[in-house]
Amino acid sequence: MRELCNEIVQKLSIVMEDLELEENKWQNLLGNSTDKKHGDITLPCHTFSKIFRKSPNDIAIQIAENVNSELSDIAEINVINGFLNFKAKNSWLSKQISTMNSDSRLGVELENAKTIVIDYSSPNIAKRMHVGHLRSTVIGDALSRILLFKGHNVIGENHIGDWGTPFGMLIEHFIECESKNIGEIDLSTFYKDARYKFENIDDFAIRSRERVVKLQSKDPETIKLWQSLVDYSLIHFNSVYRMLNVLLDDKNLAGESIYENLLPEVVERLKSKNLIVESDGALVVFPEGWINRENEPLPLIIQKGDGGFNYATTDLACIINRVEKIECDEMLYVVGAEQSQHFSMVFQVAIDAGFMDEKIKAVHVPFGLVMGSDGKKLASREGRAITLKELLEESVDRAEKIILEKNPSMSDLERRDVSKMIGIGAIKYADLSIDRNKNYTFDWDKMLSFDGNTAPYLQYAHARICSIFRKSSIPRESTLSSEIIVKNDFEMSLCKSIIGFSESIDDSISNYSPHRLAVYLHHLAQDFASFYENCPVLVSDNEETMNSRLAICNLTARILSTGLGLLGIEAPEKM
Ligand code: ARG
Repeated sequence: MRELCNEIVQKLSIVMEDLELEENKWQNLLGNSTDKKHGDITLPCHTFSKIFRKSPNDIAIQIAENVNSELSDIAEINVINGFLNFKAKNSWLSKQISTMNSDSRLGVELENAKTIVIDYSSPNIAKRMHVGHLRSTVIGDALSRILLFKGHNVIGENHIGDWGTPFGMLIEHFIECESKNIGEIDLSTFYKDARYKFENIDDFAIRSRERVVKLQSKDPETIKLWQSLVDYSLIHFNSVYRMLNVLLDDKNLAGESIYENLLPEVVERLKSKNLIVESDGALVVFPEGWINRENEPLPLIIQKGDGGFNYATTDLACIINRVEKIECDEMLYVVGAEQSQHFSMVFQVAIDAGFMDEKIKAVHVPFGLVMGSDGKKLASREGRAITLKELLEESVDRAEKIILEKNPSMSDLERRDVSKMIGIGAIKYADLSIDRNKNYTFDWDKMLSFDGNTAPYLQYAHARICSIFRKSSIPRESTLSSEIIVKNDFEMSLCKSIIGFSESIDDSISNYSPHRLAVYLHHLAQDFASFYENCPVLVSDNEETMNSRLAICNLTARILSTGLGLLGIEAPEKM
């Protein structure tokens, strides 16, 4: 209830000034009520007791009397146990909600545009995408959509792992596979097979080392082979992206290889700042405050003894590029929690070296693991690696069976479409509905259920509203100019949920957590369900009520489809 809170702050300010109570003594105490029966917003007055030498209740009553007339159009006031409670008036709510109803942006204001780079998905060439990349892709995509919606200039970068010493052996292995049948290359075993040969076949290892040298010196033949291997993997990544319906495509590729030319410069710049030290033959930086288990300074390795550069060096080059070329204001890294130390160290070195200053926000947006039903990290089933594609296909198939049962009259074509939205939505939502820092368990029955905090539940609420309009003679667009009049408690609860949309978006952004939006949408759908159960829409006794309720329905549907859309999830009109 941010809007209500703002209005109360305004009116209270005058009263508090008269009482000579400074802003910092009361404003941060004002917050959402935990008990909605008492009010929406509350001000605990207990700390004022000492100042005024009165009981908290007496002070609350005094403030209430002084502010009552100012708030008469906005909220009802009551005092309980030293709490000054404010409850939005239906008339105020009606006005707010009607304004929102006529706004095509649903009350979400544009922000001053910042240039924000989001580093997400970022799988590795010659390997299959795993579930960790699914999380990064889904969370990064939702963050991109939300930030775009707020008016920011979002640059999605897919920092694929496409460079480094293993590429010698990978290219050699690729040559051998290609000579057989390229279509049969299995990315789930490719990397392992290459490593096995590298470790066990001398002559292969020698060729691999020679190949790295050729790759680094940009030998045209080798670069061509490297490119084929990259392209081969990209076919796989892109097919997953298309199935997932995420914003990423080839124009977002910004793999490790593109920073390769910058790596010697990174070393030079670090040297010129006297940050580089030689340690066991390698060039390293010791960022202040980092120690290992033995209490020794922890190095960030920049260049290994054999001249090879490290993952961290590439990330430093990447920062230089994002700051100096892209001129970004913020860079977000949606990468698993296991890389937290890497990013903290890299950011610190980048600041120490002057690659970025405090004005630029660099944020690691970590996330937890996806667990299987066995309580272990989800990676394999019956000893076989689970591929993302299989997972997505299975979800769509399962959704199709459910829809066939629930709605047998739907045409095959339509069912296929709807099942894609539900199956893919279920997987994405299962991820986004959980605080990203937590691990979650992958559970088909739960994520595809029509009850509970799931995509199908939200999608169903949306489809149900669409069906109301199919039955009514009133077109949805005409409700945009209707006046919404909040009368009973069900309408009131739903409308209070509705006006929270914009706040949920801002919350998602400030926490880099689309989860906040998911939680909001789930509450909205729950409030809609109680409203719909208790407030007849089409059989209303009078036209004014019917139009108001239809507008509430349409507004709910618009928020559900926009909100789900911001999570990268489609909302079918029929289910
Ligand atoms: N390719 C890396 C991995 O699979 C993730 C890259 C994340 N982005 C970055 N700028 N380091 O673990």
